Amino acid sequence: ASSSPLAMEHFNYKALAALLSATLLLLLAPHLMAADPDPLQDFCVADLNGKPTVNGYPCQPSSSAGDEFLFSTRIASGGDTLANPNGSNVTELDVNEWPGLNTLGVSMNRVDFAPGGTNPPHVHPRATEVGIVTRGELLVGIVGSLDSGNRYYSKVVRAGETFVIPRGLVHFQFNVGKEEATMVVSFNSQNPGIIFVPLTLFGSSPPIPTPVLVKALRVDAEVVELLKSKFTGGY
Ligand code: GLV
Ligand code: MN
Repeated sequence: ASSSPLAMEHFNYKALAALLSATLLLLLAPHLMAADPDPLQDFCVADLNGKPTVNGYPCQPSSSAGDEFLFSTRIASGGDTLANPNGSNVTELDVNEWPGLNTLGVSMNRVDFAPGGTNPPHVHPRATEVGIVTRGELLVGIVGSLDSGNRYYSKVVRAGETFVIPRGLVHFQFNVGKEEATMVVSFNSQNPGIIFVPLTLFGSSPPIPTPVLVKALRVDAEVVELLKSKFTGGY
């Protein structure tokens, strides 16, 4: 009876179904395991009634792009290093200044420093930074995560020399020379983002409540209020 054509057909059908399911699972496995794409913006709060959009910028029709989208003159010159209290000037060249970078995963900055000027401690949440000092000499400092024991790494980097800042680590540059200094950096993101530590703690809008900072920084409220008063205008 087990060899009846009907039973055989039934068995084959089930085996085929199992084989197909296993094959489908294997084909889909990489997709099931894949993570979300990396974000290109700080936030992308869903507009559930809006039109679908992308994590970044939509593209212009390729027919409207000429040669010029591949080139930029923006960092050929720097800005006024004394225009802010940091004594430095950042000329950004990310996708917002250079639309041709969209989707390419890279961007640049030029930073000019007055003597004694600094690019204050900051973090790029979305990119590793690699840089070259093109004139002068800069103290470059980086603090590792707790994995490194909160280690401070630093070196005076001179014209022609390079440095690398791993993504997400706090770092700064400080002009230790007697002349102006300049560096050019690049990032492995079209929109690396920047979080300045002093501005984050003392100049957020609305402000972080003073009791939080009193507890976190182990100082009196007057000290916190004084620091807050220094950053009300931002950078
Ligand atoms: C340098 O550290 C920069 O972020 O421009
Ligand atoms: Mn940086």
